[in-house]
Amino acid sequence: MNLLSNEDRTSLVRLRDELSKRYDEYCSMNLSLDMTRGKPSAEQLDIANDIYGLVNASDTFSEDRFDCRNYGVPTGLPECKRMFSMITGFDPSLIVIGNNSSLSMMYDTLMRSMVFGEIESDRPWSVENVRKWICPVPGYDRHFAITQNLGFEMIPVPMKKDGPDMDIVEKLLASDPTIKGMWCVPLYSNPDGYIYSETVCIRIASMKAAAKDFRVFWDNSYAVHNLYPDHRQSIPNILSLCREYGYPNRVYAFSSTSKITFAGSGIACLASNEQNITRVSKQLSLRTIGPDKLNQLRHVRYIPNLDALHAIMDQHANILRPKFEAVDSILSEELSGLGIANWHKPLGGYFFSLFLPTGTAKAVVETAKKAGVLLTPAGATFPYGIDPNDSNIRIAPSFPPLTDIVTATKVLCVCAKLIAVEQLLV
Ligand SMILES: Cc1ncc(COP(=O)(O)O)c(C=O)c1O
Repeated sequence: MNLLSNEDRTSLVRLRDELSKRYDEYCSMNLSLDMTRGKPSAEQLDIANDIYGLVNASDTFSEDRFDCRNYGVPTGLPECKRMFSMITGFDPSLIVIGNNSSLSMMYDTLMRSMVFGEIESDRPWSVENVRKWICPVPGYDRHFAITQNLGFEMIPVPMKKDGPDMDIVEKLLASDPTIKGMWCVPLYSNPDGYIYSETVCIRIASMKAAAKDFRVFWDNSYAVHNLYPDHRQSIPNILSLCREYGYPNRVYAFSSTSKITFAGSGIACLASNEQNITRVSKQLSLRTIGPDKLNQLRHVRYIPNLDALHAIMDQHANILRPKFEAVDSILSEELSGLGIANWHKPLGGYFFSLFLPTGTAKAVVETAKKAGVLLTPAGATFPYGIDPNDSNIRIAPSFPPLTDIVTATKVLCVCAKLIAVEQLLV
């Protein structure tokens, strides 16, 4: 195929007619396909079904003989901290265990800063008239929803293949004391699937911030979510780097078992340095007399060691990999060489991120919807739901069955080409 922009008008009109015909055929199929959210499929959830039987009434005791049915242990069982140490690489003593959902721990952490400030200054963030947050884009819509909800002005910074554009981040941060934080998804970023390089991690750990209480929210949700078990990827230990480069309090790191066991009934964790964790632990022990330790017990029995963890994640990969490969090969077949699309084939995580010509993403999502294919709304990957180029679409292939993914991706490609051709014909 030639670059669409090199085609003459007659060829473009012919192409538009062919694409319209294909589009009409899809419309006549009465499709109802949903690729909007990165949820695990039922088949993936089934992997963890054995977890139910791992705690019964006769054995509710932790390794140090604590009865997990009772109140207590507000920061979590030691064996559960060790489990998350295995997942995240952080020292167990620096980990606090929460209930289901790391997102709720992120929200709570930010709320604590809003109310109590941080170690460097107990001035609550909520009293600042202007507070800003760095948001690598494209990024995770729920991160942006949290910072929007809590009144942060969000500053988009482009993602590059090795992480956020650090030249921009460093410049912004050094000069603006109202920038209080930054979102980071360092491994298999949502939605591009990029992995932060060691250089980027070091720059994040060592950059100068005008706000002395600046914090990085390091969301390692996809810590062990590799699609290719022979090519498992990892990132440097950000807490060690921050200590080494003189900003030991800088990072709050998060992870969860949402996409290891059950998305609706997993366990989350927060990790930071000793000072932050001591402070958080004090506040947590006021907020709760103890989290759901029976679920912690279930999890540590289900994931007792690295072999068990790898075996579970390899099963997820076996289900997800064909779906991701199908998306990649259809995108390649349909869109390669036309000069209208680019994307990165991720080695893990839950998403693809497709870039189309400026000004077409919304129209493509709308056109696909009319053919019965629901995609994540265009713009969702940007703060305030506004993609200034209107070019990015997030593809979430985890939940639907493979056959649906194949059809939905083909519909998406037909729509992308049709809108691109129509744009050229205007
Ligand atoms: C980057 C990122 N962080 C957090 C979450 C949600 O995590 P949890 O289920 O632990 O709240 C998701 C889910 O898609 C995600 O993509």
